[in-house]
Amino acid sequence: MARESESGTPVEPVYGPEALTGWDPATELGEPGAYPYTRGVYPTMYTGRPWTMRQYAGFGTAAESGARYRDLIAHGVTGLSVAFDLPTQMGYDSDAPLVRGEVGRVGVAVDSIEDMRELFDGIPLDRVSTSMTINAPAAVLLLLYELVAEERGIPGDRLTGTVQNDILKEYIARGTYIFPPRPSLRLTADLFAYCAAALPRWNTISVSGYHMAEAGASPAQEIAFTLADAVAYVRAALAAGMDVDDFGPRLSFFFVARTTLLEEVAKFRAARRMWARIMREEFGARDPRSWMLRFHTQTAGVQLTAQQPEANLVRVTVQALAAVLGGTQSLHTNAFDEAIALPTDKSARLALRTQQILAHETDLTATVDPFAGSYAVERLTDDVERAALGLLRRVEELGGAEAAIELGYQKGEIERNAYRIARETEAGERVVVGVNRFRLDEEEPYAPLRVDPALETRQRERLARLRARRDTRTADAALLALRAAAEGSANVLPPMKRALRAEATLGEVCDTLRSVWGTYQPPDAR
Ligand code: 3HC
Repeated sequence: MARESESGTPVEPVYGPEALTGWDPATELGEPGAYPYTRGVYPTMYTGRPWTMRQYAGFGTAAESGARYRDLIAHGVTGLSVAFDLPTQMGYDSDAPLVRGEVGRVGVAVDSIEDMRELFDGIPLDRVSTSMTINAPAAVLLLLYELVAEERGIPGDRLTGTVQNDILKEYIARGTYIFPPRPSLRLTADLFAYCAAALPRWNTISVSGYHMAEAGASPAQEIAFTLADAVAYVRAALAAGMDVDDFGPRLSFFFVARTTLLEEVAKFRAARRMWARIMREEFGARDPRSWMLRFHTQTAGVQLTAQQPEANLVRVTVQALAAVLGGTQSLHTNAFDEAIALPTDKSARLALRTQQILAHETDLTATVDPFAGSYAVERLTDDVERAALGLLRRVEELGGAEAAIELGYQKGEIERNAYRIARETEAGERVVVGVNRFRLDEEEPYAPLRVDPALETRQRERLARLRARRDTRTADAALLALRAAAEGSANVLPPMKRALRAEATLGEVCDTLRSVWGTYQPPDAR
């Protein structure tokens, strides 16, 4: 729209900064790297350092996954991201009767310090940041990681990485919980306190909206329910006697990136602004690093199609663009064949190349927050923020995240939105190319990667050998000490570490805690 001159006659807009005369970005938006961080958490963002290319990976035994990590590093990933199999995530050893058929299937099987040594064989733990997607037994895997580093002479203050450690979203959307909320939040706070002292550069939690989004949450629901969970963790740590700035800087977040690029960019900007205000105004954090919402993004797995799978290369590129334009610190790009099976070496490499092209062939890293001042994106940022604040207020009215979970509120809201999406897709109002429009009569066959079923037997045999050769008296005594700590109020991580060093297994540690804390029963299963 042409501007008007003093005489009132329209003049052609001058392209460039002059066109913004009268609208000063510095006051309207704030600066990147400055409160409330709408425009990004660092002043220079990618002009200073590109986001971390952190490909989520893991399957089979520690040997197989370790080989994949070394391959990814060789192809240029700048951060590791470990996917664990369900037995590990649920706190069971690979020889537990309950887990038959799941060992090594959706991630790597880790039972003991021996597996952890092998998983990171040949990987410089003092030079690579490692994310571990582990929640209920996050403390176990973190301590195993620290123990392996210690054996190599690497002190805790040199380790960088993240444990997801976000148990509340497991009750809402993902399901790999073990203990009830109260002992789970105690374990979370114990891990915060342990890391503040022993692993100061470790990100103690990755409060996740990703899985809620994949379950059907809208952008506003995703950030509102994630921030509500984060508020619950902050309150749990404060109740345990910590100061907010002791742990605030090491909280981190994890969101999805959908193909609706503009709304997603707005979502990330709104989330940063909301969290900065919550930490500074509600919790009185004084350290600016506590105000900064640093996050990892994964492209939307639920938007991948099994039909015409190569079309997913385009979807993932758009989603990755949304994450980068939204200021992510770390990014995982899905492989195009993941709607069919685990990625092959080639499809995993192609997913990484997508990020490398965005970082090194485009000019995305030349400008900080390129959408700043865009009428559409600033308006969307305000709209998403307003909707999310309303949902956040509702959770507060229900008594906070845990109380709302017990009432099934978040799950119910997400399911309602998931149903709306499914209905619109069914009706063709929401186009999924290749699925409800532009379909092929005959899909071309695609040969996916298959996990070797014999690996479960190999893993069980490996575990039996470990149990046979370890000093069982020492391991048993350490597990008894862990039990005593769990029955009391002392931090459980130090006795847990002693047990793991004595080659107690993940399942034995979690069984010890189950025997004291019990296990969670969801409201609809009571
Ligand atoms: N200016 C100044 N400093 C900068 C900078 C800049 N422009 N850019 C980066 N830096 C610095 C940072 O301050 C940081 O320094 P520090 O280590 O002293 O703090 C260092 O460089 C590394 O930068 P970041 O911390 O921004 O990047 P990281 O990649 O190290 O950390 C994170 C990112 C989000 C904070 C972290 O928590 C992380 O890596 N999260 C990853 C979580 C993850 O991978 N999750 C996977 C989940 S998979 C899953 O659940 C889905 C499955 O279920 C399907």
